Amino acid sequence: MKLVALPDVADVGAETVADEAAARAAHADLVLGRIENRLSLWRPEGHETPLSVDFTSGALGYRLAADRVRHERLVRAVGKQSDNGILIDATAGLGRDSALLAQAGWQVSMLERQPVLQALLADGLARAPELASHLSLIRADSTEWLQQHPRCAEVVYLDPMFPEREKSAAIKKELLWLQWLCGMDTEAGEAALLDAALSAARRRVVVKRPLRAPNLGSHKPASSLTGKTVRFDIYPCHPN
Ligand SMILES: C[S@@+](CC[C@H](N)C(=O)[O-])C[C@H]1O[C@@H](n2cnc3c(N)ncnc32)[C@H](O)[C@@H]1O
Repeated sequence: MKLVALPDVADVGAETVADEAAARAAHADLVLGRIENRLSLWRPEGHETPLSVDFTSGALGYRLAADRVRHERLVRAVGKQSDNGILIDATAGLGRDSALLAQAGWQVSMLERQPVLQALLADGLARAPELASHLSLIRADSTEWLQQHPRCAEVVYLDPMFPEREKSAAIKKELLWLQWLCGMDTEAGEAALLDAALSAARRRVVVKRPLRAPNLGSHKPASSLTGKTVRFDIYPCHPN
């Protein structure tokens, strides 16, 4: 797959082309550019809705309605806040889970290592100033960053890439693009990420997995909250 960027986009390590016609001529599979001042990813000549990060409306807007947030399985899995309520989403992706957790009252630091996703997240944050006090972005590899910040957060949340897991066409497109951009980690890489998360969390680590997927790394969760297609594995931490 080939990604190109239009000229008004910050450097994400992709070839820059003048416009969409040039993207087609370059046989690009995906284009990163601005549509109505929103950083977006799309397929040249594709009919899908372009992909962007929107913390305040669309499907997320419904899930974020204040009275519904506390019923979300993810919000129940991370538990009630104590301390200063800092939660690290170490696999931020498109920031959907982060937004939900911020809406539930957590101070969420989003860690993301993929430059295109970093750019999409930064653009989404710039368009949602009302969430700025609850959501921030750290551009980093989480394994390294968490290893360097022991016991820095109450909760660390992980949602690593997993081969396609849902059927709807819209989700399929997003997952395919995400999988292509981010690639899959090795088992050793995933195990190292979980170990780093366990060293950085004071209370618990929560891992999202497809319902029937094996556990992440070699640790067994103490409990899981299961839904129809995914489960949230809970690893309690015991601060020294
Ligand atoms: C399945 S997506 C997460 C989706 C996210 N939960 C959401 O709600 O949009 C996984 C993301 O984690 C990122 N990621 C995986 N391992 C990482 C690491 N070690 N450091 C930083 N980001 C990582 C990938 O680049 C990808 O964007």
